[in-house]
Amino acid sequence: MLMAMSTNPWADGAHGTHDQSALDLAALGIVAAIKKDVVAEERAAHPLPEPEPPRAPARIIALCNQKGGVGKTTTTINLGAALAEEGRRVLLVDFDPQGALSVGLGVSPYELDMTVYNLLMQRGVTVEDVRIKTNVNGLHLLPSNIDLSAAEVQLVNEVAREQTLQRVLRPVMRQYDYILIDCQPSLGLLTVNALTAAHGVIVPLECEFFSLRGLAMLIDTVEKVRDRLNPDLELDGILATMYDARTVHARQVLSRVVEAFGDKVYDTVISRTVKFPETTVAGEPITTWAPGSGGAKAYRALAREVLAK
Ligand SMILES: Nc1ncnc2c1ncn2[C@@H]1O[C@H](COP(=O)(O)OP(=O)(O)O)[C@@H](O)[C@H]1O
Ligand SMILES: [Mg+2]
Repeated sequence: MLMAMSTNPWADGAHGTHDQSALDLAALGIVAAIKKDVVAEERAAHPLPEPEPPRAPARIIALCNQKGGVGKTTTTINLGAALAEEGRRVLLVDFDPQGALSVGLGVSPYELDMTVYNLLMQRGVTVEDVRIKTNVNGLHLLPSNIDLSAAEVQLVNEVAREQTLQRVLRPVMRQYDYILIDCQPSLGLLTVNALTAAHGVIVPLECEFFSLRGLAMLIDTVEKVRDRLNPDLELDGILATMYDARTVHARQVLSRVVEAFGDKVYDTVISRTVKFPETTVAGEPITTWAPGSGGAKAYRALAREVLAK
């Protein structure tokens, strides 16, 4: 009886049997059904966006070599641009008071109100206050200028001085897929800050005999930072740069590097070409300035190796 009324309460009512509780129950079912319809209609009228899949925090990579002129800045710009070309959200951090990364992206470092210096040293200054959009879609820059050289000295007296960069980057970790830090040519406190913030280190290495000399000291610094400050730090890879296939010397250096570091050496090798100095003048990455060039292709290949990790 109850079952029959539930499916068709009006039919039973016509027969004169008014079981109130059964009617109520049936009505409840109808209201629920109506509500369901209304909600469905509302949903159709105001479609909710699909929830964004949660994105992993950025992988932070420090480009590091205490030797100058080995391709750190060139690699930061062009690896960053190639990752952005692949649809990744990339933040570049100019962590060298020379400001070459900023210049290489067409930013005049002396006209800036806010730089990485302010971000590190002033409470309340955020990444949002300092970052600049570059001409490459998805590629942002935290610029620097000579002010940053003062931070090296001033940070010495700070609490948790080695973790300063890590702390200021933390709030934007989910806004980016990759954060690349262009280090200055030294193993001082700024570079230790970069290594403390980083998950991985890429070492650009000029294919030239003396370039091997400083490498042991760099690896030692990476290991010390891993032991004392950042247990997750990895040596991601060694990138051979300024390779000249015509010279026996470059080939010898490359084979020695591969003997010593094996799988840690990227398959991609960056050849020496005058196109790179030209891009600095143009103030843009080689991937946009000379998209079909060998240099652009090489950095795209490196980006694929980095993505595959
Ligand atoms: N593969 C390359 N071939 C030729 N010149 C290069 C190459 N990579 C970088 N350069 C040039 O060499 C100089 C130093 O490179 P840079 O990336 O600034 O090194 P670092 O940041 O290690 O000091 C710059 O003038 C740059 O344009
Ligand atoms: Mg540099």
